[in-house]
Order: sequence, then C-alpha cells, then structure tokens
Amino acid sequence: GAPVEVDISGLALGEMKTVEWRGKPVWILKRSPEMVESLKKTDSQVADPNSERNPAELTPEYARNEYRSRKPEILVAVGICSHLGCSPTTKLQPGAQPSLPDDWTGGFLCPCHGSTFDLAGRVFKNKPAPDNLEVPPHMYLGDTRLVIG
Ligand code: FES
Repeated sequence: GAPVEVDISGLALGEMKTVEWRGKPVWILKRSPEMVESLKKTDSQVADPNSERNPAELTPEYARNEYRSRKPEILVAVGICSHLGCSPTTKLQPGAQPSLPDDWTGGFLCPCHGSTFDLAGRVFKNKPAPDNLEVPPHMYLGDTRLVIG
C-alpha cells in the first residue's frame, strides 16, 4: 500500500482524527500537556510500558518510548484491538465512566471483551488483549505534514 500523507495543522489539542492506511483505521491524536503527563501515571498500570513485546510488528524503533511516538504530543496508532480485532472506542476524558476505573486518565476501550488502552495505546494489565496497539511507520515532513507508511 502507498503511504498516506495527512495535514495535521487543523488538529486542536485533545482532538483526534482517523485516516485509512492499508485498509486499517489509523488514529492521529494531538495530546494536550495533561494527556502527555497522564502517561507517567499509567506507566505502572500497563502491561508493556516500554513496548518490548513484538517490537518488530508493533512499535517502530523511534516509538519505543513512553509516548510511543516520534513527538510526545502526537499519537499515531492503528485503531484495531490486539485481541480479536475489534475497534476500540475513544474514551479520552478523565474521570469515572461506566465500565472504566475511577482513576481513568483517558484512552480507549474495546467494546468486545473490555480491554483498555491508555493515551499511548498501551494495554492495561490483566486484559484479554495481549499487546499494545500497533504504531504504524510514520514520519514528518515539516511541522504539519505527517506521512504514514
Ligand atoms: Fe478487543 Fe477482545 S477484541 S478485547
């Protein structure tokens, strides 16, 4: 499949857009400073904080960090659950929500079997999903042009 170029200049803090790449939904989330900060909190709650599992398939070398991205403020991830392939729903807002923990700092919830992911697409511990969400290969051409693939 061809690489997909996306203009991210219109993305507001905390806003997410979805593009298609190789037939898969790819999320682009512009994380606010609070969202970036929340990843420190979830470090101890996620199963694979440093993306050491299946790195060749799931996390390019430049994204094997707490943010799982090239830039702390931008998450680029494939929106397909690593369990059985459902599409997680976006639950970006902190605070208690039905079926989410009280200390939820924002992330994604898979409706199929309840796996949850933080704002870096890292799966929380003891969930059916074995792995973090896939970070596709990506690079920037200048500040606002993102190339996926
Ligand atoms: Fe997502 Fe099972 S497919 S938890």
